[in-house]
Amino acid sequence: MLRLRAAGCVFAENEAALLVAENRPDLDDMVRRRVGGEPLEYVLGWAAFAGIRVAVDAGVFVPRHRTELLVDEALNLCEPDSVVVDLCCGAGAIGAVMLARMPRLDLYAADIDPVAVATARTNLPPERVFEGDLFDALPGHLRGRIAVLAVNTPYVPTDAIALMPPEARDFEHHVALDGGADGLDVQRRVAGLAKEWLAPGGSLLVEASERQATESAAIFAAAGLSTRIVEDDDACVVVAVLGR
Ligand SMILES: C[S@@+](CC[C@H](N)C(=O)[O-])C[C@H]1O[C@@H](n2cnc3c(N)ncnc32)[C@H](O)[C@@H]1O
Repeated sequence: MLRLRAAGCVFAENEAALLVAENRPDLDDMVRRRVGGEPLEYVLGWAAFAGIRVAVDAGVFVPRHRTELLVDEALNLCEPDSVVVDLCCGAGAIGAVMLARMPRLDLYAADIDPVAVATARTNLPPERVFEGDLFDALPGHLRGRIAVLAVNTPYVPTDAIALMPPEARDFEHHVALDGGADGLDVQRRVAGLAKEWLAPGGSLLVEASERQATESAAIFAAAGLSTRIVEDDDACVVVAVLGR
């Protein structure tokens, strides 16, 4: 604990307890990695997210607690056996929580980063996780059938990555962070294709910063979807619905 505190870990006591609880023979090495600035979740190999443990490999986006709002909103829109896609899935945290809460969902996931895909295949049924660029990765039979599309795109403006905490900017793959000049480039690409993939009446949910939410909603509205913004103290989620 003293080594973690000396290294400036804000929650040194909690972190030390978590590292010790792993009961691994390489505890010294784990402490050295954490003191070196690696995210705690990479050292542990898992992240706590919405009540479950999600495996996370080095470089893969660490699920953030603020994304639990998107999960809750997505679950509210699901029937027990809805077709759901976790696009830009990272470790597959969103899909894993949705399946834990509604095990009959017909759930698929995809990501462009092969390391994220490999990780997501440990958190989700592996045959349901695909690798590729946005919708290109998905099986064609999902076209026009997705009831709930949860898509936590990268949305950090390129210039703001340098201002992120070192744990994010130095350790997470930049493809997981970089949303282009205003942070909304990937969302624009998603919006351009969403109508083709959503079922009639289907919903898309995307996270944005408070500053971006109005523009994000405008992007999906311009693509022909009805939009609303849901927010809590930590997060904003744009919900965009395709008319029937
Ligand atoms: C902000 S992270 C979100 C990860 C996960 N959904 C979560 O909430 O923890 C964004 C993810 O989008 C993926 N990504 C970025 N560009 C992509 C693209 N063109 N197609 C598919 N996935 C992409 C990244 O690899 C990264 O895993």
